[in-house]
Amino acid sequence: SARRLLLLLGLAGLLAAMAAGTWQLGQCPMKHLKEPQPEQGSPQEQELEVTPACDNEEEEEPVVRGAPSTVSFRISTANSLLEARLEAHPGWLLVCHGHWEPSLGTLLCQQLGYLSMTQQKAVSLRDVQVSAGQQFLQVRARQEGSLEDMWQVRSSCQSGRIVALQCSECGLQAGAVRVVGGTDVSPGRWPWQVSVCQGSQHRCGGSVLAPEWILTAAHCVHSPQPGAGSPQCRCRGCRQLPAPAWLVFAGMVTHGSLRPEAGVPVRAIIAHPLYNDSSLDYDMALIRLQAPLNFSRAIRAVCLPPAPRDLLQGTPCWVSGWGHTAPGQAQVAGTLKEALVPLIGTRRCNSSCVYKGELTARMLCAGHLRGHVDACQGDSGGPLVCWDGDTWRLVGVVSWGQGCAEPNHPGVYTNVAQLLPWIHQVTQMH
Ligand code: ARG
Repeated sequence: SARRLLLLLGLAGLLAAMAAGTWQLGQCPMKHLKEPQPEQGSPQEQELEVTPACDNEEEEEPVVRGAPSTVSFRISTANSLLEARLEAHPGWLLVCHGHWEPSLGTLLCQQLGYLSMTQQKAVSLRDVQVSAGQQFLQVRARQEGSLEDMWQVRSSCQSGRIVALQCSECGLQAGAVRVVGGTDVSPGRWPWQVSVCQGSQHRCGGSVLAPEWILTAAHCVHSPQPGAGSPQCRCRGCRQLPAPAWLVFAGMVTHGSLRPEAGVPVRAIIAHPLYNDSSLDYDMALIRLQAPLNFSRAIRAVCLPPAPRDLLQGTPCWVSGWGHTAPGQAQVAGTLKEALVPLIGTRRCNSSCVYKGELTARMLCAGHLRGHVDACQGDSGGPLVCWDGDTWRLVGVVSWGQGCAEPNHPGVYTNVAQLLPWIHQVTQMH
């Protein structure tokens, strides 16, 4: 009976080991996307901090960090007048036109989260109502240094003229819109959402930045380098079939109603030069269309994040797309879907029980650590937008996640604020 006991004990041990094994498998599902594998000695390795502990209760830093400035700007919606406020100086000041440089208009529009400047002009002070005691800001005669320290406060403008500025329109939904049927979306709710297709095949989402510019994820449009040996091209003499052309569909909600002639052909695809196919660092690409989109109630641009603004953990943001509504599904959704996904602190998201240090400074997390709500395959490249009280701003681009909607594996997005200089550089150059 002693032998039988030993046998039983052994059997029990074996069973326990097997159970632990399957449990571990259950805990570590494969990523839908490529597993980030930081290369040895790569620059991002030096940037990464030590992975914070899982139960980390430290205070979270802002998810999106602005560049604090001693001077802030706004444009009056009523009359397009440029207004500025200085730290430690009460009230909003108007800006004298003296010493104004045209390049300042572009710079300020970009700082405020617009893609470009559309108009700037000098307005005579006689043509506007100015309250008594109104003060002014003027560019110093010999301007040097940054936007911050080139100003002086004045009680009047010598030229008698002030600056009016118009930037490219963005971030507004068409009129009063409602969400129908839970998470289906009505036309005009996310008018910047586009479908980036290869032939008639939906590949990814994207966002309209301007009539000719779409922002998406680099992994959507990145093709392996020629010569990498794609499996169907090993035969001698066979040439790689030309990939079907890229088409962008805007202003639609139902994917089934796609007419190929409604797709806009692509002139150029510019992926971020630092995009890394294995870590998905810098996962961003710009698509230049062959013809501008006709803006309407259903097609509009989204705003970019303004340079100086912080965004904190818990900020309610929305993701939208035609991606899978259940992990492992074979088809994309017929109707555009949306989901509310609050921003998650990067320290927490990079902790040992979430993404274990895989996030780089170009990534941010949004969603729910309990799971259930998330972006999924087919949503990539699409928008993560947050309402700032005035407009919708593109804070993230759907990039990756381990599975979809799994507990402790929220969606990871490209951090748009981090890549603003590149976006402005490319769109201004082309
Ligand atoms: N990479 C996916 C795509 O190409 C999107 C993944 C997003 N995953 C997530 N769990 N949020 O469509």
